Order: sequence, then C-alpha cells, then structure tokens
Amino acid sequence: MTNFTDLKQWEKVREGFEAAKGITLRQAFADDHSRAADMTVEAAGLTLDYSKNLVTRQMMADLFDMARECGLQEAINAMFSGERINVTENRPVLHTALRNRSGKSVVVDRMDVMPEVKSVLERMAAFSHKIRAGIWRGYTGRPIRNIVNIGIGGSDLGPAMAVQALRPFADRRLRFEFVSNIDATHFAEATHGMDPAETLFIIASKTFTTLETMTNGRTARTWLLETLKDEKAVANHFVAVSTNAKEVAEFGIDTANMFEFWDWVGGRYSLPSAIGLPLMIAIGSDNFNKMLDGFYAMDRHFAVTPFERNMPVIMGLLGIVYNNLHGAQSHAVLPYDQYLARFPAYLQQLDMESNGKSTDKNGKRVKIETGPVIWGEPGTNGQHAFYQLIHQGTKLIPADFIGFCKSHNPIGTHHDNLMANFFAQTEALAFGKTAEEVRAEGTPEELVPHKVFEGNRPTNTIMADELTPAVFGALVALYEHKVFTQGVIWNIYSFDQWGVQLGKVLAAKIYPELTSEQPPRTDAHDASTSALIARYRMANGRRA
Ligand code: F6P
Repeated sequence: MTNFTDLKQWEKVREGFEAAKGITLRQAFADDHSRAADMTVEAAGLTLDYSKNLVTRQMMADLFDMARECGLQEAINAMFSGERINVTENRPVLHTALRNRSGKSVVVDRMDVMPEVKSVLERMAAFSHKIRAGIWRGYTGRPIRNIVNIGIGGSDLGPAMAVQALRPFADRRLRFEFVSNIDATHFAEATHGMDPAETLFIIASKTFTTLETMTNGRTARTWLLETLKDEKAVANHFVAVSTNAKEVAEFGIDTANMFEFWDWVGGRYSLPSAIGLPLMIAIGSDNFNKMLDGFYAMDRHFAVTPFERNMPVIMGLLGIVYNNLHGAQSHAVLPYDQYLARFPAYLQQLDMESNGKSTDKNGKRVKIETGPVIWGEPGTNGQHAFYQLIHQGTKLIPADFIGFCKSHNPIGTHHDNLMANFFAQTEALAFGKTAEEVRAEGTPEELVPHKVFEGNRPTNTIMADELTPAVFGALVALYEHKVFTQGVIWNIYSFDQWGVQLGKVLAAKIYPELTSEQPPRTDAHDASTSALIARYRMANGRRA
C-alpha cells in the first residue's frame, strides 16, 4: 500500500491544516453555529462531541476520503471475516468473534469458531455461578471469598480494569486481587491476611510460559500448600485461562479446570474471552453478556457505518491530525469517573503495544510518526496536578474527556460538581481567556501574560447516561477500533508485539549471572550493565 502521506487526499488535509493555522476554536464556533451539532455522533449508547478539535469540516471530509483511499473499509471487512491480518504471526484477528451476538458463524480455516466461543462462555457462566452461590468450595469445605487473578499484560490489565469499572454490579462479598508484577511484593501484599482455604487462584496466560505469571503461580501454589498441606487441594483452588493446554497440565492444573481461548485473540484484546473470568465471577454472567452486547453494538457500528458518522474512525483520524501534522507526542485519556481509574493504564497496552511500531507492512522503516504516548488519570485529580501543562504549557496534548450523566453514588452535590468540572475543562481548553478578558477582571498589567489562556487545546468529549456493563463494552471496543483505524492508515501491523522480546531474552541471560557463585565474564555486557550487575551481586554478598 502507498504511504498515506503520498496520497493526494493527505495533501489536501495538509493544505487544510496550513490554511486553518490562524483560525481559533473561538472563531470556528462563532462562524459556524451548527459545528457542535454536526460534529457530534452517537453509537452504542455513547455520544462523541469532537467539535472542540483543531479541524475544519473540509479537513474532516478530506480525512474521510483519505481513509477510503487507504483501504480502511476493506481492512475492517478483512478483520471481521477472519483473514490472517496478523501477518508476522500468521494469524487471524478475531476478538470480534468473542462478542459476536448475531447468531451467524465466523469461519477460521473452514471451521465455525462460534460453537467453541459459546461453549467456553457457558462453562465460564456455570463456574462463576458455582463460586458466587458458594457451591464451589475450597479443599476444607469453606466457600471461596477471595479471587486472585495471576497474569500480566493483556491477562491482567483488562480484567483488573473491568472489575474496578463495574464494581457497582459486583458481588461485594467477594474480594478480588490482581497479581502481575514479578516483584514478590505484589503477591505478598495482595494475599496479605487472606485465608488460603477461602482463596481461588486464576492463572491467566495466553501462552502459559510468561515468566512473571509462572513465577507468581508457583509462589501461589507454595503459599496454598503451606497451609492446606495436601497436593489434592490444588484442584479446588487453582483454575487456568489459556490457549496452551499442554503447559497448563505441566503446571499441575487439571485441564478440566482450564478455560480456553484461541491464538486469534490477541492478549490486549482478550477481555471478552475467558480472560474475563474474574469479571464474570464479579458481576455474574448476565451482566457479562450485557457487556458483550455493548462490545457487539460498537463492532457493528464500526463495521457498517459510513466514516462520516463512524465514531472509532473519527477518533482515529483526529489522532492522525495531531500525531502527523501538529507533532503531538502524547494523548491523554481523562475519565471523570473513579470507577475508570485504571482505564488509561489499560489503554496504554492496547494502544502502545499495538501501534508502537517503526517498521511498515513492507518491512521498511516508517517515514512518519506512529503511535503516541497514552497517559491519563481520573478527573478531577489531574486538574490539581498536570492540567496546568495542558492549559498553559508549550506542548500540544490532545485529550479525551469521558463522563457520565448519572452517578452510581448520587451523594449530595458530588456528581454535579464533578460534571461541572468536566464541562469547564474542555471549555477552558478550547476557548481559553484573552488578555482583554484578563485585564477586564482588574488584573495588574504585569500579571496579565501569566493569566492568559491561549485556548485551542483540542479535546474529545465522550459521554453516556451511565457506566453500565453495555456502555463499558462499547467504550472498550471504541478504543480498540480507533487503534485499528490508525494502524491501517500508518500501514503498520497492529497485532504483533516483537518489541517486547529482546528484554525478555536478556533477562533470562542475566538471571544466572545474578545468582551464580561465579561472577560473570567481564566482557559479558557493556561496561555500564556489567558494573550495575557487579554492584547488585556485592550488595547480596556475592563476588563481583
Ligand atoms: O510481553 C508482552 C505480552 O506478550 C503481551 O502482549 C501479553 O498480553 C502479555 O505479555 C502476557 O502474555 P501471556 O498472556 O501469554 O502470559
């Protein structure tokens, strides 16, 4: 495929960008009274108002044309139909089959995957019910009260984020912990004070070979057996979620207690698969299914809606404007909902592991900027920390503001105050405050420049009535498809992650050098790494 920057449609976008340079959002809104209404789209219970972005109508029209020229619709169709679009791993990309609620088949290698998808969902539902109803018991006959998910990356971030996001729908009698870090502190603190007789471990790993998860899994086993003192207890207290039955059995978990998923589900896209088991235990299968309905509604929207009204496409293209025209290096995600506190962290893997690439599909070094740094914190906390830089700093930081009309905790004036801030921030960022306005407040002249807000800080506003399971599913799918859209335009492979390999290989080489009695060869590493390893060995009483 041609580089998008070589397309005449991109040239038009660029010309539009140059022409619009002097135009402020103040001016754009003053000139065009239907801008806000026309730049608002609805999908799957979500509203996106993208009118406070640094784009003109013409630029958007050119961007949609460019996306068509880049073959975005064909790429969408290829993903949904199970083509092997994950070329470097030779796999289809079918997380959308996990939430395919149409009743239609999805065929991979001439086999319909839907019966298997449904059967795993049914097994998950039966198991979740047994835990929630106290039917599944620990080895000593006690009901399960603690669920500890051991996994990392896509086998951790999704369920950890979702269990927090949907806590109002959760069975509060159950305690959920997520252990990911190989730092033993994570396991020790998560299980502190827990009774092993009432604890279920879910060992979640697509490959079932990931160092962190296997190490934490073995520690969990030892921790359990120190109290229960019988290998047979493992069957009551350990289940696995994986694509790798052989490794699960070798680890010592009966494959009857394994919930399967498939290599066509990428780790960072696996929340609606069996990786969502902790979430299903928390909120029950009915709510989990409602979440899948939300995912599906956004999937259909993405698949069939003309780009002009297509929410993920619009968000993806806007990101390209900032990334590739304005030189923005990062993108902030700012949920005005404490339940979504982990959403930015989840999106970091989704976006940065997918589009943090510098080689294009032709195997050539890209000539353009690809994925931005994703970051964020819930509002209003960020307002008292880093918003200063967004308002008055020298860097352009496009931001998504996510908010809900109704709170799950309608206490006093909290929610109206929260949302007043939500609306105030995007207004202030877009329209700022001129020197004349500052002066009119009686500000001493020497302070005027400090109190001016330039405005023109772009934001998306994403709103829904309430954070329900369905809305949550739609929100996650929205970002998945935004990331997909950008990967297609940038002509990179969004579904592999080779960049995580080198560090893993080197860590495996360094581990014995830290622990062996023999110091490593002095030329085993560069001078910096060798000296640091020596420092560590000496501090642990080993010869440097
Ligand atoms: O190291 C990165 C990664 O491969 C992620 O892509 C993945 O989500 C994570 O590790 C965990 O992998 P697994 O589920 O196989 O343990």
